Order: sequence, then C-alpha cells, then structure tokens
Amino acid sequence: MQVIIKKDYDEMSKLAAGMIAEVIRKKPRCVLGLATGSTPLGTYKELIRLHKKERLDFSQVVTFNLDEYVGLDPNHNQSYWYFMYQNLFKHINIRIENVHVPNGKAPDVEAYCAWYDGEIERAGGIDIQVLGIGGNGHIAFNEPGTALFSRTGWVVLDKRTIEDNARFFKRKADVPRYAISMGTGTILEAQRIILLATKESKADAIAASVEGPITANVPASALQLHPDCTFIVDKAAASKLCRKYGSTPKKLPRQ
Ligand code: PGA
Repeated sequence: MQVIIKKDYDEMSKLAAGMIAEVIRKKPRCVLGLATGSTPLGTYKELIRLHKKERLDFSQVVTFNLDEYVGLDPNHNQSYWYFMYQNLFKHINIRIENVHVPNGKAPDVEAYCAWYDGEIERAGGIDIQVLGIGGNGHIAFNEPGTALFSRTGWVVLDKRTIEDNARFFKRKADVPRYAISMGTGTILEAQRIILLATKESKADAIAASVEGPITANVPASALQLHPDCTFIVDKAAASKLCRKYGSTPKKLPRQ
C-alpha cells in the first residue's frame, strides 16, 4: 500500500485525475470503478477539464459505480445515478450504455447484485477503482462488520453513515436505511485502487486503515491486502498517521 500526502484538496484531485487519465490514454476501452460523495468531486471536475481542454476521450470507457440507495429512483435528486450524471457523465463523451450504477429499484436485489458482479467480470474487470472512505472506515457502503471478502449485495447502513448523509436530505428520516454496495471482495479484484480522503474528520479512519490491523471493523483496512493500492490524502486526513511516507521509486534504483 502506498500513501501519498498532498498539500490540499486541489492537489489530491489533480493527481487522482491524472492517474485515471493515464489509464484511459493507455487503454481507451478501460473499465473505471467510480465513487460518489463529496471527496471525488474535484477529481471529476479535473477529468471534465481534461476532456474539454486536452481531448481526453471517454467514448469507449466503461464504468461501474460502487453503490446506490435501495428504493431511490435514478431520477431522485439524491440518487447516485443522478449524482454521477450531474457531476461527470453529462459533461464528457461517455456512452450512457457503458455506464453502470446499481439499480436501487431492482425487484430481485440478490439476483441483480450477482448480475452486477458478473457484468464487471464480463467487461474484463476494473482497471482502476476510485474510493472515498467513511468516517467509520467504510468503503462503498461496506460498513464496519461486513465480511472482508463480501460480494456485491444489499447492506444495512450504519448509524454514523445515516447521520453523515442526513445533510443531503430534507429530514434525517428521509435518508434510506439500505443500499446496494459493491462488496469489499469485488473491490479487491480491481487491478489498481486509489482511495481519496481529505479533512481531519477522516484522520482516524485513515490511520486505522493504513497502520492498524486488518479487521472487518475497519473495512478499508482490507486494502492492505491489495498489491496496487494508493491512498492519496491531504495533510489533515494524514494527521494521525505515525509512520513516515515518502515516494517509493517505481523501479529498483541502480546499485
Ligand atoms: P464523502 O463520503 O466523500 O462525502 O466524505 C465518502 C464515503 O462515505 O465513502
């Protein structure tokens, strides 16, 4: 696991977008794993800028989103489909048929989730997965206590997640209690993973995920098992890390 500490949100976002753009340029028909939440917004803005100013081409790109609330229609203004459309998809030349966001209204959720995992496999697997992290250490909606190798399925949202997300709904009672979430095991199958975090409110979760034991109580700690995972964090989110993090050379330096 690599940790890159950036000065601020903008630098974090530019680096993340640059890493994603590199994958797209090398492999135009790549598969991106995408996240919602406030953290990746800057990364999406930069990808839009790269599309508009530097002709970054999304015409063959396939995407899979991590999660969606159960019961919300894609047109609901708090659905993750709506979020992705407003904040990324409508600004770039991606084909909507190449975009996958779990369907929160699927009639048979279990069969749907197995199909979703199958679609990722049929697309060739995720080349680069973007993740945020919850204050409780969740990735996607894999809340503390979720099996470390879970597959995509329906989950009960944690009390803290409901509180954290209440700001987006009129009333706390409107926050959905269930979601469909890509499983931690599914996420770990991505070729490459980048996890983004800013602000002090994420500092405990980052320290526990990077320097703590691998435990289902901190779902992001499972990322320690992944061979190519990079945490890109700002100084505030890194403030509770104890080890020193510098850049690791890509190749063994000449002896
Ligand atoms: P945030 O959410 O980016 O809005 O902080 C991240 C998450 O809960 O995974």
